[in-house]
Amino acid sequence: MNPKAAVLEREPATSDFLSDVIAGLSSDPRTLPCKYFYDARGAALFQKICELPEYYITRTEIEILDRHRAEIASHLGAKIELIGLGTGAGTKTRILIEALEKPAVYIPVDISKKQLRESTGLFQQIFPDLEILPVCADYLQSVVLPSPRRKAARKIVYFPGSTIGNFEPHEATDFLRRIANLCGDEGGLLIGVDLQKDRHVIEAAYNDSAGVTAEFNLNLLTRANHELGADFDLAAWHHHAIYNSREGRIEMYLISETRQHVHIEDRQFDFHAGERILTEYSYKHTPDGFAALARNAGFEFQKMWSDEARLFGVFYFKL
Ligand code: AVJ
Repeated sequence: MNPKAAVLEREPATSDFLSDVIAGLSSDPRTLPCKYFYDARGAALFQKICELPEYYITRTEIEILDRHRAEIASHLGAKIELIGLGTGAGTKTRILIEALEKPAVYIPVDISKKQLRESTGLFQQIFPDLEILPVCADYLQSVVLPSPRRKAARKIVYFPGSTIGNFEPHEATDFLRRIANLCGDEGGLLIGVDLQKDRHVIEAAYNDSAGVTAEFNLNLLTRANHELGADFDLAAWHHHAIYNSREGRIEMYLISETRQHVHIEDRQFDFHAGERILTEYSYKHTPDGFAALARNAGFEFQKMWSDEARLFGVFYFKL
């Protein structure tokens, strides 16, 4: 059996949240960073989103992995070190690891400590021969990863969920360059990317009829109230998500219903009725566009696996 893997804690401090919120609300246009969606409640709401009928992303990515697991595993090779970024509850990673040939090391990196603990506990049970080194960190900042005891054949970064869509294209390239450094010479990248498609399909996924995405978005304000002592009036804000087809991205906003003032520590922020706070971009890519973006970061396209309707792509790149 594995020794109990302790979670390496590198998560952002409350002071980072405070300074990011103040900086975001002071900027023009006003923003709140989407990485702060994922406190315990936000992570649970996101899990609920993944099960919504309108939210095709998770379901489709799982379907692709399931269908092509053997072929994907043979591309990745035997005895690899798998570095999972933002792997959350680990549903997809589990499918992948089950298909891999003698995986050596698994390093899940996630900002949600609760999910990391739970998924690590589960993975230790189902993969007793795997060396698991969980890291709780904001992988958007540079993270220093632990050194495994075991030597692997090569390092593969797994970045599922189309989280890459949160980056603007130039940021995505910078981020992929950092991933290239993480996985070194013989390394590879397996990445889930949401594809461009009919805007109605996309917009429905971010405006679900059960209102879970709205709750998820508004949870940022709840979180600011709880953790920073802010006084956002939750009833005075609503969720708005719209597809910008020119930029190829969903834009998510919180919109102020009235003229209002919000206080955080010794600061006051004035909002006019209808004023927006940008909370998330979610870019949708074309297969060629994404391959080009990755090429700019030094990655060579190997293969894309997709579903029948071409909603989603799982791309594999090598350095
Ligand atoms: C986790 C970034 C892939 O953009 O679809 C879901 C987050 N936001 N609903 C996405 C999200 C609103 C999600 N990603």
